[in-house]
Parts: sequence; structure tokens; C-alpha cells
Amino acid sequence: MKLTPQEQAWLTGEAGPGTQRAMEIVTALGKIFGAEKLVPIDSAHVAGVSYKNLGEAGVGFLEDLAAKGASVRVPTTLNPAGLDLQAWEHLGFDPTFAQNQARVIDAYRAFGITITCSCTPYQIGYEPAFGGHLAWSESSAGIFANSVIGARTNREGGPGSLSAALTGRAAAYGLHLDANRQPTHVVNMAYPVRTYTDFGALGFLIGKSPGHGVPYVRGIDPEAATTANLKAMGAAMASSSDIALFHVEGVTPEAVRGLQPAPGTPEITHHSAESVDVIDEPVDLDLVWMGCPHATIAEIRRVVDLLDGRQVKAPLWITTARPIREEAARLGLLQALESCGGEIVADTCVVVAPIRALGFHHVATNSRKGAFYAPGHNGADIRFGDVAALVEAAVSGRWEGGRS
Ligand code: F3S
Repeated sequence: MKLTPQEQAWLTGEAGPGTQRAMEIVTALGKIFGAEKLVPIDSAHVAGVSYKNLGEAGVGFLEDLAAKGASVRVPTTLNPAGLDLQAWEHLGFDPTFAQNQARVIDAYRAFGITITCSCTPYQIGYEPAFGGHLAWSESSAGIFANSVIGARTNREGGPGSLSAALTGRAAAYGLHLDANRQPTHVVNMAYPVRTYTDFGALGFLIGKSPGHGVPYVRGIDPEAATTANLKAMGAAMASSSDIALFHVEGVTPEAVRGLQPAPGTPEITHHSAESVDVIDEPVDLDLVWMGCPHATIAEIRRVVDLLDGRQVKAPLWITTARPIREEAARLGLLQALESCGGEIVADTCVVVAPIRALGFHHVATNSRKGAFYAPGHNGADIRFGDVAALVEAAVSGRWEGGRS
């Protein structure tokens, strides 16, 4: 791999042992994937934040690297943590867990990373430019940046994105290269998708088969393809596959700029929605959860409107980024939701937080990604339905079935 003189100097330790270690990781990834050079990046987004997932080994790696004195060279944001950094006590989190989570945050802060604790940095002022090179981990953020914004990132792991942040470089392979952004298969839609839940279910379905490549989707109504719906679709697709880029005809930026499938590209047609492999039986709920990926103001407003002042019987959480929570407070939405018994929980989500320890087992969500991961990560018994069904379930405290 060809390195610039500066990159070579970093690799030999001229900028200190932390940068050297990061450079070793970036160049090792480049060698594994056959990159010919490194590319400067505009930003990085680092996942691997919840102490629940990191454990002592992960914290030790971070603390050790931080002690070497390296700092990020590009704006760098952070994925959700294992708890709400401010309201953890009120929400019932364990103080020992909170202490360990604080060690993780301190390590990331020492690198100069902005403590956003959100999977949607693009919703809180960190939207990349079209064509910009990034190193974003968190699969839902990466697929959104690639597909809906037209930026360029591979599906980075936590250490890979952190190393890229500390060097300002990513290895030039995969989706950094034009050739790998071409559609590998066409997905024809022969049934309508309209809601957030429809788009999530479609994304999951597209991901399941063939499970990789760059799908080019035809037949989606551009008016239904809102940013929130594309966010749900990408998050679900990235959870059922290793896909990190999709195009939607007439909607996503590279398709709008003229990118087309080559003649003879294989085609798949979907005639009906995914048969959802989650249980739909009636159950008393421990938690109703929205905000996966983290919610926008519009998504919060919709819940408040649907509640229409009614009290919830089941705990209702909307997870989001802290600046969105603050904006919701300025707009009176936070107070309206809290007066109904709901919570806007910042910095975390139901997959990366230790929710079993909070007594949450039977959980309903409108997120196909959340419905997929919450059982595996937290042993949750999941119900999946749209936001209107979820609000009714929160008010009655019960999932009645027939809502998936
Ligand atoms: Fe974000 Fe957690 Fe969902 S990190 S995409 S809210 S699983």
C-alpha cells in the first residue's frame, strides 16, 4: 500500500504511540481488503460505547489507547451508551453500571470525541457532504450516510472507526470506490410501502436475500420515501444483511444524479410484505419503545398527538439524541409526553441498555431493527407494529395481537 511521507512517519511513531497504534490498525485493514492507498476522511462515528457490550476487556483497550495520548484529527461523534447519562438514576439503572459507563465515556472524551451518544449524528448537526469520505461504524448510520446522503463509508467496526478518527484516514477500498457503488441487483416493488413500519419491514426483507451487495429499488412512491422512512429501511436492511448501501430510483442522491443498474443486472420482485417472524400473541407489556434509530422531533410529535393527553399504563420510552430531547422540551413536547406518563430517554436505546435489569421483558416496538436485536441482546419478548398500535398498547398496557 502506498503511504504519503506523513502517513509513513505516523506509522513509525513520529506522532506518538497512540497515533502509531491507530495507523497500524488502519493499514492492516487496508492490507486485508487490498487497498492501494489511504484516503483522508471528513468525519468519524465510533460505536462500541455501552459498557454492557464492551465489558472490562473493551474498557481496558480504550483506557490503554487513551493513555498513549492520541487525539482525533477529524470531527468524531459517538454511538449510544448503555444508559441516559443524566437521568440514569431516575430511570432505575444500577450505580455500578453507571460508574463503569462513565469510565468508557471518559476514555472517549480523552481522545477529543464529541460525546453525542446517538446513532443518528446526521440529525443533530453532523450531516456529511455528498461524496465525502467517512469512517462511520454503527450500521444504521453508515447505510444512511451512504444511501440517503451519498457520502462514502465502509461498514466500520468500533476499533476501525476509532483508528480512522485518530489518523484522519481510512483505507481506500469497498464503498470508497466508484466501482463498488454500482447496483448489484434490482429489487422491484409490486406492493405499496407507506409507513415507518412498512419501510422497516421492507428493508429487512431486502436484506435477507441475497444478504449482500448494493440493491437498486424500483417502485417506491417518492412521497412516501421520507427521511425517517428511509432511516428505518436502511437500519433494518443493515441488520438482516451486511449491506451498507442501497439506491432508490428517483429518490436517493446517486440514483437521482443518473446512476443506473447495468443492462442484465439480476432482478428480484417482492409481491407482498415480509411475513414477520416475531410473535404477535397478546401479552401485558413491560415497555413500549420507539426511537430506533434515534427519533426526530416529527416522530416524537406524532406520539404526543396520538396520545392526545391519555395516560399510559405501560412505560413508554422514546429514545433519541440529547439535542433532540432538548428541542422537544423547548417545543413543549417533552412536557406533554411526560404528563401522559411517557419518557424521552437520551444517550441510549433498548438494545444497548441492560433493560432486563430494569425489569423489562415484554417489549413492543415499531422498529424492525429493534425487533430483531432486542431479543438477542436483552432476551426481550418482542411485539412489532406501527406507531398507532404502539400508542394504543401503551395506553391499555397490553398488546392485543393482530397488530404486527
Ligand atoms: Fe440506534 Fe440502538 Fe437502534 S443504536 S439503530 S436505537 S439499536
